[in-house]
Amino acid sequence: MSKVNRHIYLIGFMGCGKTSVSIAMNQLYGKNIVEVDDRIIAKEGRSINQIFAESGENYFRDLETEMLKELADEDNIIVSCGGGMVLREENRRLMKENGVIIWLDATPETILDRVKDDDSRPNLKGKKNVKDIKALKNKRADAYAEAADIKVDTDGKTIREVAKEIYESV
Ligand code: S3P
Repeated sequence: MSKVNRHIYLIGFMGCGKTSVSIAMNQLYGKNIVEVDDRIIAKEGRSINQIFAESGENYFRDLETEMLKELADEDNIIVSCGGGMVLREENRRLMKENGVIIWLDATPETILDRVKDDDSRPNLKGKKNVKDIKALKNKRADAYAEAADIKVDTDGKTIREVAKEIYESV
């Protein structure tokens, strides 16, 4: 690894494997991981669905920004970000300042397969079909591309292969 004492931020659309890949990087390389959504859930004592329904998406996005600021002080961790983390310019800047940003990507078909039985994501409610996933993904594509230092396509690869690819490229 060439960059020491820098975080690795995993970004990408819902269902692109950020959580699974971060766990594999912990297992393979002993990297400490932080799942931003889990921290937010613990801090709020509410699920993501509840936060969106009761306080709105903007409130959730504020929590994400707050969390990125808190995590900046930690030492050399893998930060598994929610799929919408890149939407705010401030968040993209905070990540750039504190580490290397890895964009995990997958096709809408693969994403659908991974998210279809999971109702924990408010932004996919009523959108569990290839057309809607493709549309939302396209809408966000520029933000992912702008944020990313490295893009990794995950289709047809195992989680471990993706983890190794990231480890070797940072
Ligand atoms: C979101 C992605 C989710 C979670 C929230 C919003 C999004 O994270 O942060 O439901 O808008 O893309 P995952 O990408 O881990 O599912």
